This record gives sequence, structure tokens and C-alpha cells, in this order.
Amino acid sequence: MSRASQSHSHSQMKLLLSILLLAAETGHEQTMGAIAGQQPPITREGCPDKCGETSIPFPFGMARGCFRPGFQVVCNHSFRPPRAFLADNGGRTYQRMMDQNYTGPSFRPGEPLRRNKAVELIDVSVDKSEARIYTAVSSICSTSGTHAVGRYAFTYLDKAGPFLASPVRNVLVGVGARVEATMVSSFGETEKAMAYRPSCLSDLVGNLQFTTDGECSGRGCCVAVLPPEAPLLTRFVAGFRPRHRRPGWESSPCSYGMVVQSSWYNFSTPDLYGYEALSGRLARGVPAVLDFAIRKGRCPPDGQQPPAGYACVSGNSSCSNEARGYVCKCSEHYHGNPYITNGCQDVDECKLRKQSHELRLLYPCYDDGICSNRVGGYDCRCKPGMKGAAIKGHCTEKFPLPAKVVVGIAAFIVVSVLMVMSHQLLKLKRFYEQNGGPVLKGVKNIRIYRRKQLKQITNNYRHIIGEGHFGKVYMGTLEDKQHVAIKISIKVDKDMKKEFIDEVIIQSGMRHKNIVRLLGCCLEVDAPMLVYEYAARGSLHDVLFGLRRIDIIPVHTRLGIAVGSAEGLAYMHSAVESTIRHGDVKSANILLDDKFIPKVSDFGTTRLLVRGKSVKTERVVGDLNYIDPIYMEHGVVTQKSDVYGFGVVLMELITRRPAIHDDRRSYVASFVQASLDKQARNFFDQAITSEGDIKLLEMVGEVAVECLKPNPEERLDMKQVEQCLVQIMGQSAQHAQETSYHGDLSPAPDDIPLLKETRIARMQ
Ligand SMILES: *[C@@H]1O[C@H](CO)[C@@H](O)[C@H](O)[C@H]1NC(C)=O
Ligand SMILES: *[C@@H]1O[C@H](CO)[C@@H](O)[C@H](O)[C@H]1NC(C)=O
Ligand SMILES: *[C@@H]1O[C@H](CO)[C@@H](O)[C@H](O)[C@H]1NC(C)=O
Ligand SMILES: *[C@@H]1O[C@H](CO)[C@@H](O)[C@H](O)[C@H]1NC(C)=O
Repeated sequence: MSRASQSHSHSQMKLLLSILLLAAETGHEQTMGAIAGQQPPITREGCPDKCGETSIPFPFGMARGCFRPGFQVVCNHSFRPPRAFLADNGGRTYQRMMDQNYTGPSFRPGEPLRRNKAVELIDVSVDKSEARIYTAVSSICSTSGTHAVGRYAFTYLDKAGPFLASPVRNVLVGVGARVEATMVSSFGETEKAMAYRPSCLSDLVGNLQFTTDGECSGRGCCVAVLPPEAPLLTRFVAGFRPRHRRPGWESSPCSYGMVVQSSWYNFSTPDLYGYEALSGRLARGVPAVLDFAIRKGRCPPDGQQPPAGYACVSGNSSCSNEARGYVCKCSEHYHGNPYITNGCQDVDECKLRKQSHELRLLYPCYDDGICSNRVGGYDCRCKPGMKGAAIKGHCTEKFPLPAKVVVGIAAFIVVSVLMVMSHQLLKLKRFYEQNGGPVLKGVKNIRIYRRKQLKQITNNYRHIIGEGHFGKVYMGTLEDKQHVAIKISIKVDKDMKKEFIDEVIIQSGMRHKNIVRLLGCCLEVDAPMLVYEYAARGSLHDVLFGLRRIDIIPVHTRLGIAVGSAEGLAYMHSAVESTIRHGDVKSANILLDDKFIPKVSDFGTTRLLVRGKSVKTERVVGDLNYIDPIYMEHGVVTQKSDVYGFGVVLMELITRRPAIHDDRRSYVASFVQASLDKQARNFFDQAITSEGDIKLLEMVGEVAVECLKPNPEERLDMKQVEQCLVQIMGQSAQHAQETSYHGDLSPAPDDIPLLKETRIARMQ
């Protein structure tokens, strides 16, 4: 009998059961919810909370007594709808527009013309301690062969005020046929500011046809991330370097620079043409993100009376120290505004966990338990007829029912079981055959499980450990106590039968320490279930970014993970009889055992490939964040697509930022650009600080760049990737020895012979 129809008749029984039980136990299912429909206040009582369409939560405010010092907002009602501006704080917060003419062959700058404007506020997020403002776009436009007009937009924030531009959430963008945009902060007052000059380059001269809309790829548009060690960014401007005339100004007279919220600007080719096309289109400005904090004072130590003027006044709120000052947050299980009295309100977890898979994992309640919200948390109880700790996934049947009810139910069960049983036997056999049982029975290395056995192994499908392509993944324990993961596979129809059998045979033949072993399968179900080796630490993605996050991952562990997964993939690619590719290489598909040994998993999209030939699949499968751009365009899958995906994984491993797909691949592109500029260290996980370690990461970054080449032909193959990583691993061991005797002797990335060789080979 299929799982679906089994659970169907199960649920009928359970329905009956709960109806009978309801008579005895009343009031079981009610949920204590928050008062629905009523929004909690965001500012102090009696204070206006909106300017036009912009919400103004405390500590921001407009009227007297409605804001903390530095957070005053001015609402200008001469606009329809009214617009919000940051108060100038005695002339310390403003935007300065500077116009300057350049004339003559030497491009001599003329007398600048200055004009100040107020800083417009877009919105505020108290949760993230962020506010967004409009900043104007800087431009430089040629008007003739000997004359150009520059317009620069300086942003000045009060140095003693609550705001700093976020180096993480903003980027520098340059737009133009040939432009090197650069960001200047603090205007050269300190040496640090001079050293901190992120810049990016777009050079298209003579190749204007090569632009791509959307993508900021260095062709007409470039982007630079701001190094996280930024000086305190209270003053900044986007400028240009060098400011001399360039050929081709007639068709594309202007270059633009802006400091803007990352991923906000989408390049469009028309921005290259016409006078002030971009700055005219975005005349109001572009959004930039500011971090705000209470700059005066620190969080009071535990148990001490908070000082006068302490900002975290809501009950159920907490305080968190920042580099300068502190911010307030609502405690766990509360949300709202921690800066006002009673601002933090209880979260209704039961309502939230219905909204997404992530929230369900965050607020677990297994076995269809009954979730009920309470102040400061939630309860999850087993449903009627069950007992145990549902929140941990333990519910067991209890039967202390009135005798009459038991008899009634028993009769019902006996009748239905008898009816179903004859049916079921036939069905089991049918599924077994449909799923290729007779063929697979003859294959060694693979064990065929009965449905009953799996039920026992998984303790009645009790522990869900994840979600695969086609359904849940369960944990199980074999008789010898070995843990296994049991995964529902795709439903097999007649046409797919051969393909499925081949797939199982290939997977069971893959025997490598870095590939998750397929141990067996169960075919007596509608969609076959596959039994795999279990990896205790979950996926690399979870360990880097997710629920199983580990704060400190040393570089040698990362190298070990990189080398191991490369070995696994190289092994897979080198299988003798046929060419195999994984098809969905990503950090979520690299599992880690308790010793951090990586195991490549989920061949969900693997297909057999005839050696040397690429197969065109109709639909794009796989994870967009990791997908080969060539695959996206042409649907052609090769082993080189796996190499690309692995390049993204390497990048995640060294930067510890998850890859985010944004059509423009700007994150991958800026990482690659930074690596080529020898600036990749700006991206690295900040937890890695030793110079030797950083050098190692740079070498891994170089390998990642070789994997991320847009042209698949130019990418390394998996075997070469593995060799490069093994060499770096060797350098790392050598380095560890050398540093202990002679200080830092770590090699430069160019010392990796293989990388050099492949480059030379390609040049020939
Ligand atoms: C409102 O904006 C207008 C137009 O920019 C400006 O002239 C005026 O001074 C502003 N009013 C206030 C109160 O800032
Ligand atoms: C730049 O030159 C133009 C005329 O060529 C003039 O109208 C404009 O005022 C000048 N701007 C500045 C800032 O000097
Ligand atoms: C840029 O493109 C993304 C995705 O297409 C879109 O969500 C976003 O609003 C666009 N940004 C602008 C400023 O149009
Ligand atoms: C926390 O919130 C609950 C209700 O949401 C309230 O009863 C309790 O007093 C609050 N705690 C503090 C310290 O204010």
C-alpha cells in the first residue's frame, strides 16, 4: 500500500478517534493568539508616526520629545505626499553638490560651485538597526572635445551622530563606456582613509555592443564591494580616476559613480547614452544604507542598574554593544520596538511556522503536534491519543481510553485492516515490479529492503532530518546501530524505469570515502525510498550558514573539506564506462560527518552521459545560486557545469557568505574581479586573521576563479582542481612547519606550479 493511501486511511481513523476523545477532553485545541488585527505602536504615545508614506519609529521622531538626540526627522509638507529628511543637526548632516568645469587639453579644473541639500530619509528598520537615505549620483560629462562638466554628490553625516554608512550593505557602482569609479571617504584627512579607496573599472571603448542589461559585469557597469575594515563612514563621495578626456565621448558622453545599497542598481544600456541619462533618470537619488546606534554609553553589565537615558526601555528587550555605542533588540520570542515602553510584543510562533519551511525548522513541533502560542514562547503537545514530547519529535500512542471506545475502535480497525490487506499484498508486488525489483535483486552492493523493515529502521518515520528534492528525509538506525538517512526518490513510471535502475546501479557502484554511499532501497512503495550513509553534521551549507552553524572553522578544516569534496567529484567524473556528472553541486549537497570529512550527496539530477557528448535537458534543474551561466543559456550540461558549481562552493568556503543569485551574478563577478586585482582578501571570512592563513585562502580563491570562468572550455577539470587543492594543502602543512621555525614564509599564489602550467598551456 502506498504511503499516501496508508496515511489516508490512518487519518480517517485518527479523525474518528479525535471526535470520540473530544467528548472527554474539552478545550484541547484552542490557541492563545495575540490580539489579531491591531498593530502595536512604533513610537511614543502622542507622537506622529508617519511622514507621508514613511513610517517613523522611535528613536526617530519629528515633534519635540518624540526623538532621541541625533534622530530628529524633518517632515517637509510642501511635497505631495510629504517627504522625510534627516535634521541637519546644526549644519553637520547634509548633502553637498559640487559642480566643476574642466577645460582645455590638460583638462584643467575650474572654480567649483557648491550647493547644500538636506539628506532625504527613505525608511527605517528598527529590527536591523538600519535606515536608508537617498544619495545623489555623481557624474562627469563631456560637452565637447575640450570641455567637461563634473557633478559630485558628497554625503556628510554628523561625526558625533548615530549614523554610519554600512560597508556591508552598500557597494560602489560605476557606469560608463570607460570609467574607473572610486569612493573617497573622510576626504583624505587620515592615512587610513587614503588606504581605503575601493574602486572598480569598466572599459568598453570600441566594444559598446558587448553590454548586457542587468549584469554589472565590467562591461559598461562595474561594482566594488566596500572592504569591511572601512573607516567610520560618516563622509563619502563617489568620484572618478583619472579625470581626463576619453575617446568615444560623442556617443556616450557621461560616466557615473554612486555609493548604493548592494544589488539595488540594475544596469540598463540606455544609461550609457545621452547627456545625464542616468543621473537624470534617478534625479531624486539612489538608496544607501546607514547603520544606526546609540553612540553615547555602553550596555550596562548584567545585573547592574541601567544608567539614566538608557535606550532599551521596553520589557523583554536586550542590549547589544556595537563598535561604537550600542543597539537594542527585542528578546527571543518577542518582536516590535525595543526603544519604547512595552514596544516588544510576544511573537505568535504557531502562526509563523505555517509560513515557511525555515520558520518550521526554527519553531519545531513534530508528529503533527498541536501548537499553541504562549507569552514568551510556544507549546507543542502531542495530539489526542498520543503522549510524549512533541517538540522533540517523540509522541507515542497511549491507550488509556474508556473500554467502550476501545472496543468500538478495535472493531473498526479489524474490519478496515481485513478489507485493505488483500488489496495491499497485490499493490506491494506491483510497485516492486514497476520500480525494477527483479533487475535490482541481482545487483550486488545493494540491499533491497521490505517496507516493513524500513518502518522499523526509521522507528515509524519518526525523525525528519531534512527535505530532499522529492520529499522528506528520515533518520534510521540499522540493526548494527549504524545510522542511515532514508530519502524518498522520484516516482518511477514506465518510461523512467530503465533510467532509474541504471541510476541505482551507478550510485551503488560509487565507492569512495567522499561520496555518500547508497546502501539499499525499498521498492514496495509508490515512490522508491533510498537508504544512504548518514552524515552527522549535516550539510556544509548548514555548518557555514544554517542551523548547525559552527562559529570558528579553521583554515586547515576548510582545506580538508575542499580537497575531499573535489576528490569525490573527480572520482565521479572519472567513472570508467560512462561519463557522469553530478548536476547540482552546491554546499547543501556536500555533507559532513562528525570528523568534517565531506561526502558529496544528492545525485538527484544525475543523468547518464555518453562520454564526450553533452546532453540537452529540457528544463533547468539545480540551484540557481550555483548554476553554470552557460547551462542557464543553452541547457547544455557538462562536467564543467559541476566545476562551476564547485567554484561557487569554494568561494562560500573562504568568504563565508552564501552565494545569492541575482541575475547579474554580481557577487561572483566582484569576487572574481577582486581576485584578479589581488584584492580578494577583502571578501574573506573575517574570522581568519593570520597572514599565512589569508595567503592560503588567496590560493584557494585563485582556484575558484579558474572554476568560475564564463567559458567552460577555459575552466580546469575536476581532477586538476583536486590537484591544485592538494598542493595548497601541502603548502599549508609545510607552512605550518616553517612558520614555527622561521616566521612567515608562506608562498605567493603564483608559486602553485599547476595553476601556472595550466595558464601557460591555455595561452599556447
Ligand atoms: C521643503 O522643501 C522645499 C523645496 O525643496 C524647500 O524650499 C523648503 O525650504 C523645505 N521646507 C522645510 C521646512 O525644510
Ligand atoms: C561651466 O561652464 C558653463 C558654460 O560653459 C557655465 O554656464 C557654467 O556656469 C559653468 N559652471 C561652473 C560650475 O563653473
Ligand atoms: C533590479 O532587478 C531586481 C530583480 O529583477 C528587482 O527586484 C529590483 O527592483 C530592480 N531594481 C531597480 C532599482 O529597478
Ligand atoms: C514581558 O512580556 C510579558 C507579556 O508580553 C509581560 O507580562 C512581562 O511583564 C514582560 N516582562 C517585562 C520584564 O516587562
